[in-house]
Amino acid sequence: MEKRVCILMGSPRKDGNTMHLLKPFMDELRQGGCACELIWLYEKEIQPCCACCCCQNDHAAFGCALDDDMQGIAESVLRSDLLVLATPIYSWYCTPPMKAALDRLVYGMNKYYGERKGSALWEGKRVALLTTCGYPIEKGADLWESGVRRYCKHSQLRYMGMLAEHDPGYRSVFMGEEKAARAGAFAQELLRSFEC
Ligand SMILES: Cc1cc2nc3c(=O)[nH]c(=O)nc-3n(C[C@H](O)[C@H](O)[C@H](O)COP(=O)(O)O)c2cc1C
Repeated sequence: MEKRVCILMGSPRKDGNTMHLLKPFMDELRQGGCACELIWLYEKEIQPCCACCCCQNDHAAFGCALDDDMQGIAESVLRSDLLVLATPIYSWYCTPPMKAALDRLVYGMNKYYGERKGSALWEGKRVALLTTCGYPIEKGADLWESGVRRYCKHSQLRYMGMLAEHDPGYRSVFMGEEKAARAGAFAQELLRSFEC
């Protein structure tokens, strides 16, 4: 059966490094029979979580009280077999709309925070990271990866790994055959995981 991949894209640059890395990754997934939905977070209205906790009153749905684009994004996430968080690293973490989306999801999807404890609506969903950063990977993307690992553990999500690539600077060429090959290989690895 066709697998659905929901890609939350956190780069503000339509023709930027993260998108260039994402292209061969999506091509490979599509060739492997996946339907990829790419959501540009900078084009969406995503208000920050205001900690009203209304979402905790509804144990069957995302249930956020804020009226913006996050409801539709949450539905796409719930429908997907694999959630990909694609973002450049900004100040050692993801970009602001990605952070806002993660905050809204961690409460809306995990019914842990109200008086009556519930479950995680997205329990068992696969999550993978695709990121680009200016520092060497081990100093640029490490905090983002460990934050997401913990987020997944807490949310009962299945962390599938990270593809991170280094940007040598805005005046250099970012993309090349080796990076494209690694993006394709990462997609292959994720496709194989659907077989087990
Ligand atoms: C505001 C800002 C903050 C950044 N902070 C970091 C950082 O903390 N660590 C890092 O390795 N790179 C950092 N970078 C570099 C970007 O992560 C890198 O250039 C990335 O490839 C840009 O991706 P894009 O072309 O998709 O926007 C920063 C870039 C900007 C514009």
